[in-house]
Amino acid sequence: MRKKLVVGNWKMNGSRAANAVLLAGLREAGPWSADVAVCVPFPYITETALALTGTQLAYGSQDCSAHEQGAYTGEVSSLMLHDLGCRYAIVGHSERRAYHHESDQLVADKAKAALAHGVTPIVCVGETLAEREAGQTEVVVKRQLAAVIHTLTHCIGEIVLAYEPVWAIGTGLTATPEQAQAVHAVLRTQLHAATQKSDAMRILYGGSMKADNAVALLGQPDIDGGLIGGASLKAADFAAICRAAG
Ligand code: PGA
Repeated sequence: MRKKLVVGNWKMNGSRAANAVLLAGLREAGPWSADVAVCVPFPYITETALALTGTQLAYGSQDCSAHEQGAYTGEVSSLMLHDLGCRYAIVGHSERRAYHHESDQLVADKAKAALAHGVTPIVCVGETLAEREAGQTEVVVKRQLAAVIHTLTHCIGEIVLAYEPVWAIGTGLTATPEQAQAVHAVLRTQLHAATQKSDAMRILYGGSMKADNAVALLGQPDIDGGLIGGASLKAADFAAICRAAG
């Protein structure tokens, strides 16, 4: 039985004052039987760590460099994230693939760098609306995952995977539980061919997950949790999803 994992992706939101309120709300709302984490903007990692001390909540980043250290102005390495106590780093989010032109290989290299320093990469895959309408969903997500499998080889079992249909992110459109499950099953089959650990691996769904659709999505056999954007910015909304995962 896989333990559910609910991860908040704050994206480029927050302020010291707003974060303090949100994190205090989460402290009060827990504990939950699911694993829970928040992935926050880099500058807020240290304060998040302090605010969550003594709770079950883990924390992480929304990206990491493929490099360990050196002359990479503006980058943050997984070595640094590990130093700050981060458990997770989201890599390959569709917003980074789209706006920062991150390739499948770069995403795979970031996942490898994270694992090398004890940070679990949450690797995002997902198709655009045009790709779905062209019947390309499977081809796209399998191509994105194949790059990670090829690069990580026997370590692939250590990642968390997230299926995030691009057309559902921040749009209020959610994949139906059946649509999401179908893709999750494809991804698990692909993982199964690569690692004996596939049954233990967690595949999260992301894309307009909220308290009122979380139960149905999380009830699917291959949906092992959620990656939550908009609904992770209010403690009550995020806590309701965490409860639904329990
Ligand atoms: P959303 O974002 O929940 O706001 O759709 C999810 C994500 O981008 O991770």
